Parts: sequence; structure tokens; C-alpha cells
Amino acid sequence: MTLKIAFIGTGYISKIHARAAQKLEDVELTAVVNHRPESMAAFAAEFTIPRQYATIEALLQDGDVDAIVIGTPNYLHAPQTIAALDAGVHVMVEKPMAMDAAEAETMLEASRSSGALLMVAHCWRFDSEVLWLLEQVKAGRLGKIIRTKGYSVHVHWGPAGWFTQKRYAGGGALADMGIHALDTARFLLGDPRPVSVYARIGTYYKEFEVDDTGVIIVNWDNGATSTIESGWWQPHADGPEAATQLYGTVGFGQIFPTYLEFSDVEHVAWERIDPGFPPVRDPHCQQSMYDAQMTYFVECIRSDQTPRPGGLEGWINMRVVDAAYESARTGRVVKL
Ligand SMILES: NC(=O)c1ccc[n+]([C@@H]2O[C@H](COP(=O)([O-])OP(=O)(O)OC[C@H]3O[C@@H](n4cnc5c(N)ncnc54)[C@H](O)[C@@H]3O)[C@@H](O)[C@H]2O)c1
Repeated sequence: MTLKIAFIGTGYISKIHARAAQKLEDVELTAVVNHRPESMAAFAAEFTIPRQYATIEALLQDGDVDAIVIGTPNYLHAPQTIAALDAGVHVMVEKPMAMDAAEAETMLEASRSSGALLMVAHCWRFDSEVLWLLEQVKAGRLGKIIRTKGYSVHVHWGPAGWFTQKRYAGGGALADMGIHALDTARFLLGDPRPVSVYARIGTYYKEFEVDDTGVIIVNWDNGATSTIESGWWQPHADGPEAATQLYGTVGFGQIFPTYLEFSDVEHVAWERIDPGFPPVRDPHCQQSMYDAQMTYFVECIRSDQTPRPGGLEGWINMRVVDAAYESARTGRVVKL
């Protein structure tokens, strides 16, 4: 049966999602929502989308839509998600899923009570190199993972407009970028629960209302610890836009460049596995990752399977983000 998908927002990420959906069989790009008619008309023309609406309410009232993909500013994620879920429409919402964990929880509840599916677009879970490293972890090649180190930063640039305004974005570089590194660490660790968070967060590079720099330490309930760096306008990054390293009892693995080094239990004989991914990665994210993410969303709908990353994973990430901001404000470790 043909699945009818609508796109909410017509900016940078919505185009990437529409490109992904266009490649799928039995998926119809049925509608688009934006309060700005010119941008909406251009998007509808580019992706041959027949229906245009100024508001999500108008779309839902008209009906004949199975799923929506939300790529709007963060303050709209919760109300638009809940409106769709309450109408029985499945949702994939961009990260960060909400302005804070309290909003995220109401979205999770709406999904549970409506029965419609909620997926959160934590896209790095669909990256081929991240998935390769996860396979190594699952095969036990690193032993027990003691700590992870990751970052997600923009070097020499940062976003403008609503991204830098607290009332529209909720948070700055941590909510925008750090959450990628946070979710990647959590994914590679097998989705542990956070136990405590300590953070130093500030604004140093521009006159923003929100943060442009952060260092966060998260302790997980499986005993591992993650350090996470977030940033816009940073003077340097050790590699591409985002990367994560895993330090285990008998091994080390990382993305990007992606490889693994592991030893016997005595730490004497070391081997290296190089999976052969291109040594230099695109500085920004690849379309293939978003294609895999959209394919998974559609598969979940067709098989009535709770998506993972879903509302639960998104909510846990928001709890860590909230705790990090609280820790930075109070100077204390926040227990969860
Ligand atoms: N996963 C990723 O790699 C990734 C990358 C970029 C952005 N994002 C996320 O996607 C979201 C959007 O970011 P972006 O870069 O595409 O932003 P953007 O500013 O390019 O696009 C936002 C869109 O929302 C529209 N919009 C605003 N108010 C609206 C309303 N009331 N109804 C409908 N549409 C409305 C705007 O007109 C615009 O088309 C953010 O949450 C961001 O964090 C994720």
C-alpha cells in the first residue's frame, strides 16, 4: 500500500528528507506545510508535491496522510508532533526532539496513548561507519568499554537566525551539535541510562543568547563514562564535524577515520582492523545516512514496530542536555 508522507518545514533538513523519501518505492510525497508560501511552493515544485498547507492543523484536518517528517525550528517540534500523533499520524521529528525533557516526555506520552509511531531523527545511528563500530563492540572485540570521547562541532562557522535564539532553539551548540555526539556514544554503549552529568558550558565566540562551547561528562548505569564536546565557531576539531572514540579493556575503536585496535587479555599482542572506509570523510553529513534513516522509518510504519531511536531515546538525550545546562549553571554534578 502506498504510504503518504508530508514534510513540515521546507528548509535545509527537509530537503534532505524529501530526497531520501523520493528514492523509496510505494511512498508518495503527498503534502508540505510552511507558513511562507514562496518557500513552500518552491519545495513542492522541486519534489513534485501536490498539496500545500500553511499550518499543520489544516493538513491534519484535510487528512489522507500517513506520516509526517518535522524539520522546523525546535520550539515547534512538540506541538506539531503531538497534533499529528493525536490525529493518528506517524511522526519522524528532527533532533533535538524538543525544547527540554518535560516537552519530550509529553511527546512520548502522546505516542503511547495514540498508538501512532514516534521516531526521533538521531541520524548517526544510520551511518555505515558507526554501524561497523557497533558490530565490533557487539562482537566483544574491545572488551568492556570503560570510557568514550566524542565531539560534534562546527569549525570556523556556526548557524545564524533562530538557532541562536533561546525561545526558538531551547539551547545552543549543545542542543544542536553536542546531542549528536551524545546519542552516538549512547548508541555505541548499548543505550545505557545516564546516572550523573557534569558540564562546563558557555558563550565565547559570538554575541549569542545560547551556548557556543561545551564540555560534558556523563556517567552511565553500565559503569562507562562519556566526555562530549559541543561547539560552534570552534578554532579546531580533531577530524570531521563529529567523531567518537571508544576505550575498552582490550581495545580501542573510533569513527572517523574508522578503525579498531585490540589485543589479547594480557595487552601484549595488538592487532588492527581497518574496514576500508574512505580515509577522508565528507566534512558534513552524507545523504546516504539520511536515506537509511528514512528507509527505517518507513519499515517501522509498515511493520508496526516501535522505532529506535524513538521517543524514549530522544527523551533520555533531552534529560542529559537539561542536566548539563543545570550543571553548568550551578557548578554541581546533577544526579539523574
Ligand atoms: N540531523 C541533522 O543532521 C540536522 C541537520 C540540520 C538541521 N537539523 C534539525 O532540523 C531542524 C530544522 O533545521 P534546518 O537547518 O532545516 O532549519 P531551517 O531554518 O533551514 O528550516 C526550518 C524550516 O521551518 C519552517 N518553519 C518555520 N516555522 C514554521 C511553521 N510554523 N510551520 C511550518 N514550517 C515552519 C521555515 O520556514 C523553514 O522552512 C532543527 O531542529 C535542526 O536541529 C538536523
